[in-house]
Amino acid sequence: MSDQTPEATSPEDVEKHQYDVVVIGAGGSGLRAAIAAHEAGAKVAVVCKSLLGKAHTVMAEGGAAAALGNLWPDDSWQVHFRDTMRGGKMLNNWRMAQLHAQEAPERVLELEDWGALFDRTKDGLISQRDFGGHRYARLAHVGDRTGLEMIRTLQQRTVQLGIDVFMECTITDLMRSDGKIAGAFGYWRESGSFIAFEAPAIVLATGGIGKSFKVTSNSWEYTGDGHAMALRAGAKLINMEFVQFHPTGMVWPPSVKGLLVTESVRGDGGILKNSEGKRFMFDYIPEYFKDETADNEEEADRWYEDKKNNRRPPELLPRDEVARAINSEIKAGRGSEHGGVYLDIASRRSPEFIHKRLPSMYHQFKELADVDITAEPMEIGPTCHYVMGGVEVDPDTEMSGVEGLYSVGECSGGMHGSNRLGGNSLSDLLVFGKRAGDAAAAYVSGLGGVRPTLSETDLKSAEELALSPFDRSGEGSENPYTIQQDLQQVMNDLVGIIRTREELAQSLGEIEKLKERAEHLEVSGDREYNPGWHLAIDLRNMLLVSECIAKAALEREESRGGHTRDDHPGFDEKWGTLNIALSLNAAGDGVDLATQPLPVMPDELATFFEGDH
Ligand code: FUM
Repeated sequence: MSDQTPEATSPEDVEKHQYDVVVIGAGGSGLRAAIAAHEAGAKVAVVCKSLLGKAHTVMAEGGAAAALGNLWPDDSWQVHFRDTMRGGKMLNNWRMAQLHAQEAPERVLELEDWGALFDRTKDGLISQRDFGGHRYARLAHVGDRTGLEMIRTLQQRTVQLGIDVFMECTITDLMRSDGKIAGAFGYWRESGSFIAFEAPAIVLATGGIGKSFKVTSNSWEYTGDGHAMALRAGAKLINMEFVQFHPTGMVWPPSVKGLLVTESVRGDGGILKNSEGKRFMFDYIPEYFKDETADNEEEADRWYEDKKNNRRPPELLPRDEVARAINSEIKAGRGSEHGGVYLDIASRRSPEFIHKRLPSMYHQFKELADVDITAEPMEIGPTCHYVMGGVEVDPDTEMSGVEGLYSVGECSGGMHGSNRLGGNSLSDLLVFGKRAGDAAAAYVSGLGGVRPTLSETDLKSAEELALSPFDRSGEGSENPYTIQQDLQQVMNDLVGIIRTREELAQSLGEIEKLKERAEHLEVSGDREYNPGWHLAIDLRNMLLVSECIAKAALEREESRGGHTRDDHPGFDEKWGTLNIALSLNAAGDGVDLATQPLPVMPDELATFFEGDH
């Protein structure tokens, strides 16, 4: 029990600000949206839970996918569009995939104009690297630090433009007035004091949900805040059953389990081997990708030099396929010493090549695991990396079903269907960040000066809710860290790479129990930098999005992309045309689920897929 229950302040004491557009989240999509809205004339603020520049964007190490055609002139937006749709097993919102493929090259070149450095071809063009599921080498990159360079560039531009940034400031709730967005409420992490933004447009750019899983490439910030706030504000989430397990995360030492090992290692020629030394991916080529995947070493290796007449190596199948294959090898007892498999680039590329192309990976393994990747293989295994599901938005404007509420990047759903291709996240956040920023600014100027007002009653409720973990005098017995750990275990064990009806049903029971336990959460201390209190607030979001994932996964009785049902292997045609949408239930304590038809692709685009099985 807390001996110093903090007093609720009166709403007049809440620090208040007025903006046209408030962007929540300062990863690539948030910063790109903020820049666009500012350039369109809006008064913009960026609010981020962490420090500026610390975002999961940096974990997209290998590059930004864009059909620049610098290495392969045959590449085009049409080929990129087709690859993206096939990678998402045709569940993508076709219009988003089209806009993404068409606009990505311009967005990458614009970033270069703003000062981003990229590796170069011999002719001085932006170099492009191979990645899984992409027909051509298409990822604009700088070594294996592309996300970092993008964030650096966007951050610098944000600062240059004089956009206001509120760092270490967590938004807990969105505010509405007459059903439209009116602003947001939150707290300063350091002082614990409350802050409110009055703004007719909010862009959610809060990233993913990875911290609900035990083994993840995500850091502490990724607790599904935007997903959960959107639900509570009345928006719908789609595709939540599709969670991407990146095939290659570190497995050893335990302190860094889950840390990303970039797909660039495979893109640049690395291969996967089991404990028997077998290059096992040839055993896992699915029917769907048979025509384009090499089934022997000689052809696989020729592909790096000549893509036209050869099929892609099986290590460069889309991520869902590779992660499942690794999982099967480990389960069959052919795993490595520490429970992964081997990723070998040392025997395939020279130390000079590895140092030049994969400098971060070299240092990561040397410093954290004492492994020299130029001389020995890495041990790797799947890690929860990305959620394909998110807020359902209009593909052209990124506005959700709630007027004034926009969502971009990992927080939005539809673009990647059931599985995202590596490299498509960086281009996604540039394309849709700009679109959302433009649209939000246009929306505000269309209001003609009429602004929604924040309700004092809503502010008061948000404040009381935020303070409730301090105020459980005597009845509170639960610790936020224990509940988080228990949730991560449930999601890992019951809602992981391979799922079954029984386990998913069990997970929902467990999540209900965790929700009840969370009612008895108690934190001690005061409001000044109190991580236990912060986690107690985040848990509300984590539990809600976990329920969405488990519920949608139970409903979808087929296997597709980042959702594999052991009891329903393979596609079910019926599910190939349906989305699962989730919305907050009437009691506000859980979610309702509905199926809805996918938008129908126009004939001129559908012809790209003729002959697909
Ligand atoms: O493997 C990687 O470099 C990650 C890229 C991505 O998630 O797009």
